[in-house]
Amino acid sequence: MFDQTAVFGLCMLPLGRWLGLGFCSMASQSFSSGIHSAAFVTCPNDTVAKEIARGIVQKKLAACVNIIPQITSVYEWKGKIEEDSEVLLMIKTRSSKIPDLAEYVRSNHPYEVAEVISFPIDQGNPPYLKWIGDVVPE
Ligand SMILES: *[C@@H]1O[C@H](CO)[C@@H](O)[C@H](O)[C@H]1NC(C)=O
Repeated sequence: MFDQTAVFGLCMLPLGRWLGLGFCSMASQSFSSGIHSAAFVTCPNDTVAKEIARGIVQKKLAACVNIIPQITSVYEWKGKIEEDSEVLLMIKTRSSKIPDLAEYVRSNHPYEVAEVISFPIDQGNPPYLKWIGDVVPE
């Protein structure tokens, strides 16, 4: 069999596409669109962000959490427009882990209503997507 990476690479070339769609769609099935997700969680500060990020990775609820510092959020809360400095977590995991991830954040986050939103990852670097799956159990 072809190495997944090599097959993926070949499908990116005009020759690969010319060889047939079936061949290339078979290769892309190794990392079907949506098997992995990116999730976003806002935190009040760096201390909370690091604590939650470490908990998430330790509990194998995600392979990687990026901490994006100093974002400004404008939102309506209880009828008033608020503006706060926050920190954003960008989380990479298996889509099947999103419910457990959301539950973990709800239980460990200081906000009354914590933001946990996720998006399926359509495509990516195959070895990177494989790594997410290797780190995070199904
Ligand atoms: C970070 O936020 C938490 C929860 O709102 C708060 O208890 C803590 O004092 C804050 N820490 C800093 C360094 O601002």
